[in-house]
Amino acid sequence: MKAEEAKKRIADLSRQIHRHNHNYYILSSPEISDYEFDMLLEELIKLENEFPQFADPNSPSKRVGGDITKDFPTVEHRIPMLSLSNTYSEEEIQAFDQRVFKELEMHPEYVCELKYDGVAISISYEGGQLARAVTRGDGTKGDDVTANIKTIRSIPLQLQGHFPADLEVRGEIFLPHEGFARINAEREEIGEAPFANPRNATSGSIKLQDSSIVARRPLECIIYSIHGANLPNTSHYENLVEARKWGFRTSDFVIKSDKLDEVFAFIHDMAESRPALPFDIDGVVIKVNDYPQQDILGSTAKSPRWAIAYKFSAEQAVSKLLSVSYQVGRTGTVTPVANLEPVSLAGTTVKRASLHNADIIEKLGLHEHDYVVVEKGGDIIPKISAVKVEARTAGADPIGFISKCPECGTPLKRDEDKAANYCPNARGCPPQIKGRIEHFISRRAMDIDSLGEGKIDILFENGKIRDPADLYILEMSDIQGLSKVYPGEGEKKERTVSFKEKTSRNIIEGIRESLEVPFERVLFALGIRYVGETVAKTLAEHFGSIDHIISADHDSLVEIHEIGERIADSVVSFFKDPENLSLVDRLRSAGVKMETDTGDTQQKTTLASRSFVVSGTFSGYSRDEIKNLIKSNGGKSISALSGKTDYLIAGENAGPSKLAKAVDLGIPVLSLQDFLDMIS
Ligand code: IVH
Repeated sequence: MKAEEAKKRIADLSRQIHRHNHNYYILSSPEISDYEFDMLLEELIKLENEFPQFADPNSPSKRVGGDITKDFPTVEHRIPMLSLSNTYSEEEIQAFDQRVFKELEMHPEYVCELKYDGVAISISYEGGQLARAVTRGDGTKGDDVTANIKTIRSIPLQLQGHFPADLEVRGEIFLPHEGFARINAEREEIGEAPFANPRNATSGSIKLQDSSIVARRPLECIIYSIHGANLPNTSHYENLVEARKWGFRTSDFVIKSDKLDEVFAFIHDMAESRPALPFDIDGVVIKVNDYPQQDILGSTAKSPRWAIAYKFSAEQAVSKLLSVSYQVGRTGTVTPVANLEPVSLAGTTVKRASLHNADIIEKLGLHEHDYVVVEKGGDIIPKISAVKVEARTAGADPIGFISKCPECGTPLKRDEDKAANYCPNARGCPPQIKGRIEHFISRRAMDIDSLGEGKIDILFENGKIRDPADLYILEMSDIQGLSKVYPGEGEKKERTVSFKEKTSRNIIEGIRESLEVPFERVLFALGIRYVGETVAKTLAEHFGSIDHIISADHDSLVEIHEIGERIADSVVSFFKDPENLSLVDRLRSAGVKMETDTGDTQQKTTLASRSFVVSGTFSGYSRDEIKNLIKSNGGKSISALSGKTDYLIAGENAGPSKLAKAVDLGIPVLSLQDFLDMIS
């Protein structure tokens, strides 16, 4: 394509994509399918790479991120970002209204909005182009997080319609519950502590150095104030209506009224709707609508005198501590959990509350059988916010953190950085072993969906698996008939689960199919701390094979974009451990991919992904050597014969049942020489 033509096409695509974004994220009425949208974006990114001279800083391709910010520059706010004065009582709202009435000598019009529980942002536009986005900081100066903010789809990069040339909008960035749950699930998979609540996840996200990671976090932004010369109206509500036309998202939950009754009705409605909203709010904001009236009322150093926030109090209940139990996670972290007398709170029955770690137990001063205040605030899991010391039984002992692992008895160690206690017996502690295997088979890792937590438990309890590589040597005879008795609890009766033939066959088949899983997911499946899906992909693409990663040192790892010190340390120490190296070798021998498909293996495609089962003994070659030959020639070595197997290589004493099955399924049986001829 010629440069002139490319310039026109880039401009045209940008215009289309901006419009479709607006239709989708602001108007909720897309005109094209996600696929068609992706195709337009892909074409734009390709053209911008080819003709970088035409790439615009506000191109819709900025939505996918890619810019890296090492240190966020500090920027002074043109207008300070104040906070709101808070109240928890309706009387104080009445007092606020009386003061306003007295000073204005009339009843003003109020705008009532939700108080979003996220992170405040100020975004400036010059000539309709997003120029800069700055966090609140200390109210006077904040951090320039522009590159990260540009990835948020509900923030327009270019304004539409009749917008003021010079504009600053302020609003709240937040993570809806669904996105929050997804991010935490991903963090747990890589051994990272989950975020306690969506607000923490949001502030963590907008300060990430790599904007392409921010782009994958489903952040949203609602605009709640508008500043600038030449605004179309002299009142807040009316300007919000205009802002929607320029491309901003404003809240769907807003009312304008000059009646205090209606203000209270809004507060009550929202308090009632709060549990069902898909995002967190912590109250309602009441603002005087008219700007000249706002000016008359003025501001204190901290907050405007024309607005007040009515905060919902966290829902609380009192319950009795029955016991504290301790859970051991995949990475060995021991988390204390309070078992409580069931109590109803915010529409659910609470029986347990997280105690997070030893420091929290100490800070609360928790004693046995204490009466505690349970709270459901922004955090997903209810927490204990206070102890009723006055109700404590005389002589009750303080709760001390356990010193030995509740699962394997190993003395616990403490990770000062994370204020966490952990069991160092990674190889021998059952929940850690099972947790690693569960991670290995999980959907985004090896995706062996014929296995699951319960089945892993049965295989483990019956001594069949100790690590992921053991899965690949399982045969039907190892699995069929295995069982476990689950004791009854409360209303649940005792039950025995055992593997029938079909289940067993599915398990073997699922494990075999996982040999097709690409290397980047195998790398993620290994469960190296801090190596999530994205990092695994980066490492796989950069190094091409596990051997290159094993021999990489700390310095060559941190040189890679996206890989920091912490990840590099973790990768190096993982592959220093002989047990992990042996795990890799055993997985490799089983046929699990240890190289990217486009890497070194590309030249060796003699066997073109054909699958082989090796059975019996061979003179001059060990079975592992033959399996390595299969792999190094682009084939796959698998353990069980099925209709999908291409060849059986049979040596002396090859299993008679395997031979018979091969004949049955019409699978060619090769001698060692046949095989060597094939690859020569
Ligand atoms: S107005 C001068 N409106 O609450 C006051 N703030 O304590 C400007 N917030 O930092 C703020 N929802 O992050 C306003 N509808 C809303 C809000 C809101 C949430 C946050 C904002 C601010 C804090 C004020």
